Amino acid sequence: MSIQPSVDSSEWHYKCEGLGNVILGYCGNNPRFVGRVLRVRKCPRSELTSNKSTMDEMYSKSEGIISREDYLTIYVRDVIGSLFSTCYPNNSGLVDAGETISLSREFLREMKSKIDLVRPTQMLEYKLDFDINADCGMLMRDFTYNRKHTQKTNSDDATFCVEFKPKWGMICRSEFIKDENKPLKYETCRFCCQQLTKLKQGLITSFTKFCPTNLFSSEEARVRKAIEDLIQNPQNNMKIYINGELNWFDDNNIPNRDFKEELISTLTKYHIDNLDTFIKRLIFCILDSNIMECVQRMQMLDRFDIEFVAKYVYPPLKDKYKSDEVIQAKLFDWKTIPEWIEPLKAELSSMDNKCKEFICTLSGFSKDVSLTLENELQAHHPYTNIKPHLKSLDEFVKECTIENEEFLWHILRMYLIAHGIKDCSVMITFNVTRGENQLDHDYDIGVVDLDPKLVSKVTSYLVQDQDIVTRFMESNTV
Ligand SMILES: Nc1ncnc2c1ncn2[C@@H]1O[C@H](COP(=O)(O)OP(=O)(O)OP(=O)(O)O)[C@@H](O)[C@H]1O
Ligand SMILES: [Mg+2]
Ligand SMILES: [Zn+2]
Repeated sequence: MSIQPSVDSSEWHYKCEGLGNVILGYCGNNPRFVGRVLRVRKCPRSELTSNKSTMDEMYSKSEGIISREDYLTIYVRDVIGSLFSTCYPNNSGLVDAGETISLSREFLREMKSKIDLVRPTQMLEYKLDFDINADCGMLMRDFTYNRKHTQKTNSDDATFCVEFKPKWGMICRSEFIKDENKPLKYETCRFCCQQLTKLKQGLITSFTKFCPTNLFSSEEARVRKAIEDLIQNPQNNMKIYINGELNWFDDNNIPNRDFKEELISTLTKYHIDNLDTFIKRLIFCILDSNIMECVQRMQMLDRFDIEFVAKYVYPPLKDKYKSDEVIQAKLFDWKTIPEWIEPLKAELSSMDNKCKEFICTLSGFSKDVSLTLENELQAHHPYTNIKPHLKSLDEFVKECTIENEEFLWHILRMYLIAHGIKDCSVMITFNVTRGENQLDHDYDIGVVDLDPKLVSKVTSYLVQDQDIVTRFMESNTV
């Protein structure tokens, strides 16, 4: 943790929050903080009254790492950042690992009373809350600003930042998925399957037509449909910031909102009198940047599916090491990163630098024959570069023993890294100016929310997966 000038609660304000973190924006003049955000974690409400956070325990088995924030910084910088550069070599600053900054309890208490006045009701009632015992936070670049346009030329110029949480842009067609689940899991994407479960859990109030396989298709018509569907019903998957302030998003509070009308009226205020102009700009940024290809390539490290990982890969490691904390520390052991990252990079390099086209049954598009052929070819692609001769379930199961420990670590890393990337957000920022050429051609891109997934959750990921699948299948048979 580096020594920082102290933070002053009067200079920070509430910007946004996810389920696990609150993001504070900076409004003071200290050059150290200008253009940056502070990410403060949440903790279970029951821990707020104790004086100590137990959040660090999960990460503290890694030598030299004392907080969750240190762990995240190293993970994003040396693991995710390094893998991203394999897929996206020309972009610097696509991710910001941030830096850990110490925070006093006084600062956190003052911030909590300030932000609680403006936080969405749903978040004030959620099982996790702003952690006033956090001791530190993460200082990172504010991705809602455009690095290419720091100076405004006109007073009514605006910076738009459109955030997509694209979720699973791939369909894992692993042989190792149980036969009874294959028809569903091979053809319908996880996001679409999960809508039903989310509705039952009260996480959403209505179904969206948005299907991630469209956003990840690299095809203009499908990307357009994805954006239009998100504009109709964005759920948690699209948000818009204007001049750094969250402006258009679904707080899951008011049913039957007309998001499209709201967006059109916002755009009009900023002199964009045509929704289509705005959509075209987003399509351009997505296709021109290749960002979805890069995200998808990382997600496709999930070649085996949780059904295989939870059953054959995790148990031998658990048997040997007993503790999930020890497994977590060894899995992403930061002292040996150069040794274990190279095989992961090789897995990424062996994939094409273009989006694999998946057509989910609920995407609104149908398969053409050539695509089916391509998928068949893909099925013959080796599951892993380090043992390319292995093809069948039997061969893999035989290999999953503790004698082949390195192999198990590699597969588990592939799965958990891919799984983490399925939760990231892509932030696309561009400027809007008054006059003829309303939308500036320069855009900036960042990817946030890249936290590592925990080994201790592997079993619950399987339970969740099977639950989603069963619920979906049951609803389709009645
Ligand atoms: N560096 C950043 N700059 C600007 N905005 C950010 C930044 N990081 C996060 N945000 C905003 O804050 C929101 C919540 O942050 P983040 O995704 O890191 O929290 P989380 O608790 O992990 O969310 P989730 O529940 O989706 O996992 C993001 O969706 C994004 O809108
Ligand atoms: Mg997150
Ligand atoms: Zn889908």
